[in-house]
Amino acid sequence: MKRLGLLLLAAVVVIAAGVAIFLFKPASLPDVSAAQAKLPAGQALIDRGEYLTRAADCVACHTTAGDKPYAGGLAFKLPFGTIYSPNITADKDTGIGNWSDAEFVRALHQGIDKDGQNLYPAFSYAAYAQMTTEDALAIKAYLFSLPPVKADAPKNELGFPFNQRYVMRFWNLLFVPSGPLQPDPAQTAEWNRGAYLVEAMAHCGECHTPRNLFYAVDNGRKFAGAELQGWKAYNISSDKRTGIGGWSDQQLFDYLSKGHAENRGAATGSMGEAVDFSLRHLTPEDIKAIVTYVKSVPPQTSTDKAVVEAEPAALTASTAYAPAADAATQDGLGLKLFQGACASCHGWNGEGLQTPYAALKGSRTVNDPDGTNLIQVILKGAHMTTPQGRQSMPAFATAYSDVEIAALSNYVLGHFGGKQSAITPADVAKARTQ
Ligand code: HEC
Ligand code: HEC
Ligand code: HEC
Repeated sequence: MKRLGLLLLAAVVVIAAGVAIFLFKPASLPDVSAAQAKLPAGQALIDRGEYLTRAADCVACHTTAGDKPYAGGLAFKLPFGTIYSPNITADKDTGIGNWSDAEFVRALHQGIDKDGQNLYPAFSYAAYAQMTTEDALAIKAYLFSLPPVKADAPKNELGFPFNQRYVMRFWNLLFVPSGPLQPDPAQTAEWNRGAYLVEAMAHCGECHTPRNLFYAVDNGRKFAGAELQGWKAYNISSDKRTGIGGWSDQQLFDYLSKGHAENRGAATGSMGEAVDFSLRHLTPEDIKAIVTYVKSVPPQTSTDKAVVEAEPAALTASTAYAPAADAATQDGLGLKLFQGACASCHGWNGEGLQTPYAALKGSRTVNDPDGTNLIQVILKGAHMTTPQGRQSMPAFATAYSDVEIAALSNYVLGHFGGKQSAITPADVAKARTQ
């Protein structure tokens, strides 16, 4: 018995030592010389880097509204605290101007900073881990070709134990792919290009795939939809009812490359940003490849109530300039507000008055009885850069009270989506804090 006890104790000591070595051993640097040798020189490298930096949408998270691109400072509210994106311009004091190629590649592939500290997965490195080393280096070359910006990001606000960065080493072991995405020989070149763009670059799953208990993307439910920062990133699997299985290739192509599609509404919130900063800059061939890949993702049913009804009775009975008699469904306040503040751009028949960007017919946002994204759009407004100029909707957060926005939302859902909803002023008050 005594012997067994000693053996057990020895085993525990050995395991504990192993874990300690794993947690505290300095992180090694990857060898990037082979990839460096394969890269083009000069402007060709910077151009390739610019395209890829856009495709990976680094700017969305590393820039605050109206501020210098890539200078960081954007807040990420996580369930366990707030962290801020760092400055990734080439400034030597406050940015990453002193980082070597190998240190940069390690950050993108393993989520480890210059000092060997682990980074948190609010930085989408679990996706970028699948990027080739050459592409990562091209991105660095582009970022380093821009003027450095001096700007310190605010300090992170994380309590114990979440401020213990080494804990992420276990997470990385479990959830971060090692090595670039391997092409699937059974699929076409277009599909493989789409897979690479979606998984290693555009990181669609970081927003659209639900997360597990450990905050890792749950690929068993790929693209089934998730909530982030007060918005729903809808189900984009090929499920016909709750996903985008009913969308034509053309609709998906238009939505991703222009930010709106006929009878599907507009991209707003962080999807609006993804289109504006990133997707609309990609070549038509690359968008087509993304469409091919996304449409091949197996259907996932979700419990989301946002099932789109394209032709609700009130909508089809209305003209662009006048609503059908549907005022009876509400107390009249919502209808009155829509008439005063919204109808001049959106019209009453869902086609949009000034521009097709304002078409609401068939949009999931006006079909979701929870009103999640609808309330956010009304509070924050929306905009999109287009070949016809900037399309925009003003923010109404300060113009209207919670009571007014709740009534307006219920009216919009009834009229444009044929949905019975019960959005309360408390729902709007909550949305204001997100
Ligand atoms: C979804 C948001 C998001 C995207 C997209 C994103 N980042 Fe980040 N990044 C962050 C956050 C947040 C941190 C800080 C994480 C932390 O403090 O642990 C970070 C950290 C970094 C760091 C570490 C810098 C330092 O000083 O420690 C580098 C380098 C970096 N990102 C580069 C990039 C590049 C290059 C891209 C595009 C390929 C990119 N990021 C895209 C959110 C993002
Ligand atoms: C930063 C988070 C984020 C990323 C990255 C992102 N999305 Fe989205 N996506 C959203 C949100 C939020 C919405 C809801 C937008 C709205 O209500 O207008 C959305 C909406 C959509 C829709 C519309 C679905 C519907 O039923 O109306 C499609 C299609 C879509 N995304 C595809 C993609 C694809 C493909 C990618 C990658 C190339 C991607 N998204 C990347 C957050 C994101
Ligand atoms: C100045 C014109 C204008 C006004 C006023 C306006 N909107 Fe908009 N709205 C737009 C445009 C343009 C878009 C598309 C923006 C984009 O593509 O980013 C939009 C988008 C939307 C969307 C998102 C559609 C989708 O498919 O996700 C909703 C919902 C919406 N508006 C509702 C309203 C409501 C309710 C009001 C009144 C409080 C209103 N809008 C006032 C122009 C306007």
